[in-house]
Amino acid sequence: MFHWRRMIVVVTLAEGGRDGRLSCGYSSFRGKRATMEDFYDIKTSKVDGQIVCLFGIFDGHGGSRAAEFLKGNLFQNLMKHPEFSTNTKLAISETYQQTDMDFLDSEKDTFRDDGSTASTAVLVGNHLYVANVGDSRTIISKSGKAIALSEDHKPNRTDERRRIESAGGVVMWAGTWRVGGVLAMSRAFGNRMLKQFVVAEPEIQDQEIDEELELLVLASDGLWDVVPNEDAISLAQAEEEPEAAARKLTETAFTRGSADNITCIVVKFHHKKAEPEGSQQG
Ligand SMILES: *[C@@H]1O[C@H](CO)[C@@H](O)[C@H](O)[C@H]1NC(C)=O
Ligand SMILES: *[C@@H]1O[C@H](CO)[C@@H](O)[C@H](O)[C@H]1NC(C)=O
Repeated sequence: MFHWRRMIVVVTLAEGGRDGRLSCGYSSFRGKRATMEDFYDIKTSKVDGQIVCLFGIFDGHGGSRAAEFLKGNLFQNLMKHPEFSTNTKLAISETYQQTDMDFLDSEKDTFRDDGSTASTAVLVGNHLYVANVGDSRTIISKSGKAIALSEDHKPNRTDERRRIESAGGVVMWAGTWRVGGVLAMSRAFGNRMLKQFVVAEPEIQDQEIDEELELLVLASDGLWDVVPNEDAISLAQAEEEPEAAARKLTETAFTRGSADNITCIVVKFHHKKAEPEGSQQG
């Protein structure tokens, strides 16, 4: 069962005399099972007179409600945060945790226990803020080199295991490493039953946008399980258009045997190069 969805957004970034453009494409593949629990969100808006772009991958587990809630609320909440422009990291951190509480609140009368990852990249001015909860991942390429901007929240990460154990939890092997023998990631939205251990506090990295930045790729673990970061960059770079690149990545993951939902967003940065006088190139 193939379900492709693609879109393209072109944004012009010409604020503060900085000329550049980014374009972005999206692709999603629904695997063998009937339900699609991967969601994505792409938004551009003007906040405090400045153009901002937000990209997110939300990979649900145990149901799609947490992922759907994030798609509907996370970026709205973030842009409303009073310190979004002035202290973006703080705004992201507080918004992630508040949105998790809002979700749990909205589900408190149900017996459901849906959860979701959130890997997001937010462009404010000439900074890219990448925030992560769970095992989706965001990478970039700079001068052809793949650089991960998030570290997957796996329960057997030394620091994560320590955090979980000091909160009174256990990490057990059950086919893979799992919190309480249940959940194969160490942080998530939702997951009420494990909330003491499985927090929605994001890890955030801040990257300055410069001429070397070529690509931004966000994807669910359905991609990363079978496509290493370096492959993802070289595959994406071989395609002219970002939506073709996104589709290429999901197709590659599928042909390499990924059985999971696969969702990815590819963003290409186009920098206006100052051509040297008399240059024969280009
Ligand atoms: C999609 O992802 C969810 C959560 O990981 C999973 O439960 C569901 O079975 C997946 N669908 C496929 C087709 O693998
Ligand atoms: C965590 O476990 C996986 C196997 O599930 C292994 O590949 C990985 O290296 C482990 N990571 C750490 C930090 O121990």
